[in-house]
Amino acid sequence: IPVTPFDYVVFGGSGDLACRKLLPALFHRFADGQFDESSRILAVSRSGMAREAYRAMAAEAIGEHGSPGDHDGEVLSRFLGCLDHIHLDVTDPAGWAALADRLDRDETRIRAFYLAVAPDLFGPICEGLGEAGLATANSRVVLEKPLGYDLTSAEAINEAVGRVFAERQIYRIDHYLGKETVQNLMALRFANALFEPLWNSAQIDHVQITVAEEIGVEGRADYYEASGALRDMVQNHLLQLLCLVALEPPAAFTADAVRDEKLKILTALKPITGDAAADLTVRGQYRGVAAGGADIPGYADELGRASGTETFVAIKAEVENWRWAGVPFYLRTGKRMARRASEIVIEFRSIPHSIFGPEAGRILVNQLVLRLQPDEGVKLYLMIKDPGPGGMRLRQVPLNLSFAETFDTRPPDAYERLLLDVVRGNQTLFMRRDEVAAAWAWIDPIRASWDASRTAPHGYRAGTWGPSAAIALIERDRRTWHEEAE
Ligand code: BG6
Repeated sequence: IPVTPFDYVVFGGSGDLACRKLLPALFHRFADGQFDESSRILAVSRSGMAREAYRAMAAEAIGEHGSPGDHDGEVLSRFLGCLDHIHLDVTDPAGWAALADRLDRDETRIRAFYLAVAPDLFGPICEGLGEAGLATANSRVVLEKPLGYDLTSAEAINEAVGRVFAERQIYRIDHYLGKETVQNLMALRFANALFEPLWNSAQIDHVQITVAEEIGVEGRADYYEASGALRDMVQNHLLQLLCLVALEPPAAFTADAVRDEKLKILTALKPITGDAAADLTVRGQYRGVAAGGADIPGYADELGRASGTETFVAIKAEVENWRWAGVPFYLRTGKRMARRASEIVIEFRSIPHSIFGPEAGRILVNQLVLRLQPDEGVKLYLMIKDPGPGGMRLRQVPLNLSFAETFDTRPPDAYERLLLDVVRGNQTLFMRRDEVAAAWAWIDPIRASWDASRTAPHGYRAGTWGPSAAIALIERDRRTWHEEAE
């Protein structure tokens, strides 16, 4: 459904995120007819680039990170016609007046301000927008992560933004919520009668959430060094996934109904404080691998100095409520792991008694695996009889729903959905202020315990599944990390 005409103003408009994600995403939505040339995308940066130079840069970015070849060249040139660039130093009041002049005067028109800049600029930019009279009722502001580095700094950002924009105008991005498979988790749970009766501690043994990346820190060592995997991935993406697995059925798929339920989960997370962190969390940092020509440098080598920052985290979390009491949620994420693989595994309790006896083979259990990326899909592992006359031997085999095989469409990037949800005024897939605060409130004590322990992260070889301590974390409970065969 086409959206109403809008002005998208992208601060950091010539930066990495704009080139890799935002411009290709907007292009694809344009090519699919979701908006027309009466909408405008105004990139703001300090680069002093002329309009034509910006359009050329955008065309190159879309060529590299999108699939413009799926459309004829005319579509791309019409899209480029929507783009403009303005030079603005956010600390210079004159610049704001120039920005205001470039925007449509019609106050009923939707305006979205996307802040793809460092978070210390969120406050000053919002203030500038407010003073220039641009924070009108039909305007929205989109905040990219990191939203602070702890609860206090996140609240300071929220305060500063909240002085100019009302909460209904603030869109805090967690791009994992825009991923197709993540939205499918809601469909799976609440559009099927099958799973919900089983979705509780009586039937589920434990949950695993893995977000493994094959890449390292990719030239972002400065940002990453101050962040680490706990802040970069767990505070946002992994906790959001945990919320969607654990939340109670919202009454409707609407912004506050969904976010109220997520907040209840975040506040029900059992705090991990003091010495408990040593038992319930594992930190790792990748070490280099010399592989003759294909050497992979370690994190400290990439940084150029020794560091205590974690590039891997595993956590045994618990949700303290009626539905989930006693069900561990094992979370793990890391850089330079064996391969890129993100998935949610729901492992059901084993059968109470086997009628087949020990010779049937080790009795495995049912698992539901949601594969977020790559090879998006859902697998339901069932026990079946091994074919053949040799007796009742059992084997675990998946019912396999592969999205690529089932749907003949290009899977949209997460930003495609989210960018236009902002225009539509739909906040369901964005984080509310209290959610962000609750997530930090759970993360901060873990960080504090690590700092107090004065221990270093465990080393792990680049290209593996993380430190052995992470394997021990789950095996102590007589469970194992799920690993899909390649
Ligand atoms: C970002 C993190 O939020 O998510 C990056 O800052 C990480 O460190 C990225 O690489 C992973 O996103 P995706 O969509 O590639 O899984």
